[in-house]
Amino acid sequence: MGNILVTGAAGFIGSHTTDQLLAAGHEVLGVDNFRTGHRRNLNAALRSAAFRLVEADVAEPGVLAALVAGFRPEAIIHLAALVSVQESIQDPALNQRLNVRATELVAAAAEAQGVARIVFASSAAIYGDATALPIEEEAPKQPISPYGEAKLVSEGILLKTTGRGVTVRCHRYFNVFGPRQDPASPYSGVISIFDRRYREGKAVTIYGDGQQTRDFISVHDVARANVIAATQPGIVSGAANICTGRATSLRDIVAVFAAHYPAVSPPLYTESRPGDIIHSLGKPARAREQLGFVAQVPVAVALGELIETQ
Ligand code: UD1
Repeated sequence: MGNILVTGAAGFIGSHTTDQLLAAGHEVLGVDNFRTGHRRNLNAALRSAAFRLVEADVAEPGVLAALVAGFRPEAIIHLAALVSVQESIQDPALNQRLNVRATELVAAAAEAQGVARIVFASSAAIYGDATALPIEEEAPKQPISPYGEAKLVSEGILLKTTGRGVTVRCHRYFNVFGPRQDPASPYSGVISIFDRRYREGKAVTIYGDGQQTRDFISVHDVARANVIAATQPGIVSGAANICTGRATSLRDIVAVFAAHYPAVSPPLYTESRPGDIIHSLGKPARAREQLGFVAQVPVAVALGELIETQ
C-alpha cells in the first residue's frame, strides 16, 4: 500500500476520498488551508494512525515541494480549489491563484520528485453550455466562467507532464452530492441546499418548472473513482467524465425528500435563474474504458443515505 497526498483533504470530496484511501490501507497525507474545508470532515480519518493532516496553502510556492520531498507519495490527488463558480466571477485573481497557480505547483513538484500519478478535480464546467447530450469528452470546450476556464487550463498544464513520466488523470465531475457538502451559499449544489431546508422544516424553492435535469453522482462514487485512478496498476493518462449517464430532474429529487419529510410544505416555484441550463448529462463510457469505473450508487439510494445522515 502506498503513500498518497491529498490536497483539499478537509473538503467535501477530499474528505470522502481520504476516508476511502485509509479504508483501503494507504498512508495519507492531507493538506488543507481550511478556507472552505472543515476539520470536522476528517473526524474519522484523524483517528487513524495512517493519516496526517497539515494546514497549509498549496498555492504558496515551496509548500508542496517540501511536503512531497518529505512524504514521497506515489500519487497526488489534487482537489484543493476555489470551488464556487460565483466567487470565480467576483474574484478572478483569486481563482487564478487557487485554481491555476496551485496546479502549476502540483505539476512541478510531481515532475521534480518522481511522483508516479496525479489525479485532478476537473469539472463538467469546462464544456460550458453543451448542445449535444450526453456530453462526450471530445465535445467543444467553451467554459462560461473563470472557474471553468481555470479547470480547462489546469488540465492542459497537468497533461503536459505526462511526457515526463507522470500519469495524469483529469476527472470531469458532474453534479456531485452527498454528506459534508456545504450548503452555505445560494449557489451551492442544489441537493445540499434542499437537504438543509428540509431538515429545518422549510419549503424549498425551485427555479423554473423543476423539469430541469442534471447528472447527479454520489460523492462515494466520485471518491472511489479518485482511489482507482491514484492506486490501480496499468492506468493511462487522460481525461474522463465522472458521471452516471443518468438524468435526474429536480422534481425527482424533491419527491424523495417529500417522502421522508411529509410534514414540510411543498416547493415554491419561481422564475428560472438567468443563465441556468435546462439539461446536463455526461457520457460515462470513457471512465469505464480507461479506469474500469462505473458509478454504482443510485441517486435515490444516495439521497436516502444523505437524509438519514446525522
Ligand atoms: C452549478 C455550477 C457548477 C457546479 C454546480 C455545483 C454554474 C454555471 N455551474 O451547476 O459549476 O459544479 O453548480 O453543484 O454555476 N436550483 C433550485 N433551487 C435552489 C438551488 C438550485 O431550483 O435552491 C436549481 C438551479 O437553478 C439549477 C439546478 O437546481 O437549475 C441545479 O443547480 P446547481 O446545483 O447549482 O447546479 P448546476 O446549475 O448544474
